[in-house]
Amino acid sequence: MHTTEESYRLFEEKNKEAETGGGEEKIEKIHKAGRKTARERILTLLDPSTFVEFDKLVTHRCNDFGMNKNKIPGDGMITGYGKIDGRITFVFAQDFTVFGGTMSRANADKVVKVMDMALTTGAPIIGLNDSGGARIQEGVESLAGYADIFYRNVMASGVVPQISAIFGPCAGGAVYSPAMTDFILMVRDTSYMFVTGPEVIKTVTHEEVTMNDLGGAMTHNTRSGVAHFVADNDEQVLMMIRELMSFLPSNNMEDPPTQPCTDDIMRQDEKLQHIVPVDPNKPYDMKELITTVIDNHNFFEVMPFYAQNIITGFARLGGRPVGIVANQPAFLAGVLDINSALKGARFVRFCDCFNIPLITFEDVPGFLPGTTQEYGGIIKHGAKLLYAFCEATVPKITVITRKAYGGAYCVMSSKHIGGDVNFAYPTAEIAVMGPEGSVNIIHKGKLSEEKRAEAVENYRETFANPYKAAELGYIDEIIYPKQTRPKLIQALELTQNKSKTNPPKKHGNIPL
Ligand code: HXC
Repeated sequence: MHTTEESYRLFEEKNKEAETGGGEEKIEKIHKAGRKTARERILTLLDPSTFVEFDKLVTHRCNDFGMNKNKIPGDGMITGYGKIDGRITFVFAQDFTVFGGTMSRANADKVVKVMDMALTTGAPIIGLNDSGGARIQEGVESLAGYADIFYRNVMASGVVPQISAIFGPCAGGAVYSPAMTDFILMVRDTSYMFVTGPEVIKTVTHEEVTMNDLGGAMTHNTRSGVAHFVADNDEQVLMMIRELMSFLPSNNMEDPPTQPCTDDIMRQDEKLQHIVPVDPNKPYDMKELITTVIDNHNFFEVMPFYAQNIITGFARLGGRPVGIVANQPAFLAGVLDINSALKGARFVRFCDCFNIPLITFEDVPGFLPGTTQEYGGIIKHGAKLLYAFCEATVPKITVITRKAYGGAYCVMSSKHIGGDVNFAYPTAEIAVMGPEGSVNIIHKGKLSEEKRAEAVENYRETFANPYKAAELGYIDEIIYPKQTRPKLIQALELTQNKSKTNPPKKHGNIPL
């Protein structure tokens, strides 16, 4: 029989053992590399003193490969809940010091437990990944653990926000759980995601590629579009997650959290009057327009390095969180192509899942022509953006700043696909095609150079403006650019109790 003191000492020892994970030496190695341990990551992410740990003493149940003699309490996965800005959030973090943070049956069960709780209590779940993937010694039991998590990722999708940060390796099937969450954040130079690593690739395809080129943070932020954010170190990633969370509700039944607005809601910036150039072919930076209009110029951009011809991100207007989708005339003239359609569609659908109103700034010359785009499936990918805007039932407010040509006019949250309030600047050009293209088709080969120039000018006068659309009620109001902020805030207030539902169905069939 133990004395009370002995019982307490045993309890203390077990706790200490769990907290030390794979041992001081391995922790030291992590610190030397300027990184944090899994436990430190959780404590940095959550509000001070709010972390409650579950299953701290769980161990694996594997007896093969001598594993029965090597058990560490917690088994390389730290799970529990805490608060971010006072709101309950569930977390799990892979501890690389314990069996390389690999997935065992036992630690998958820990993740499953917090995921189930997140779903039933309507709280977000954040995964802090740093793992060698499936624990090889456990074979199919490890795979089963992953599959149990994948299933829950899908069940939770659109119900509670799911966020994944990648701190170290994320290899094999392990990438698929993050891939099914809403946002992926990576750390520059230390995090990697790939289905098969450089060695396997070399054997199978004879390609030689470094870990970083294959699956580093910038590869996934610029080329593949797998990741949404990049940070310079562990600390910065965790702070980015906190900021991201500030725009999101805890679940799909709640509205996103408003904050007291410290910026003048009636603010009219003269600067806006001159952002759109007189020359329709001259680029300008749409981000300058966005940051001028929103509260405190604070724009939290999503996927800033990928498909930069479309801008996506979160901001507040009058204290209310909004999702912003905008064409970027400063990059590829703001044209819609495969990548920008994918980026935009996913963002629109996220905002719609979580009751975040959509503000669209439009200046788009159309879809990008060319065989690369056509063979790549611009038809089905462009359709995704169209589908996403059509199905979104959150408040949708659109501002056409300049070009709204062709199919792109329809796609970018037009009146016809459910835009609630559609504004246009006097500089807007709303037509089937640009003046040059239109004249070339209508008068194909029939006009002298002089007459052609005249016809182009004529077309511009007649169609390249917002007035035809305004006459037809397709634009609710033509506004001066400087009025954008108060007009958007007013429109958000108007639509704050919007109630619209699509016909009941099992799910739609978005063109994948
Ligand atoms: C068991 C593993 C492991 C694994 C790493 N370790 N990966 N243990 N299963 N998959 C262990 C190592 O033995 C070592 O244990 C510790 O973790 C740290 O690993 P190191 O190799 O020493 O570290 P490092 O040099 O930093 O390299 C990390 C790494 C490398 C890049 C992750 O270990 C690696 O390539 N591992 C295999 C990755 C992989 O191919 N995973 C896919 C598995 S299949 P000690 O005791 O020495 O500390 C898969 C399919 C899932 O995931 C499918 C789901 C659908």
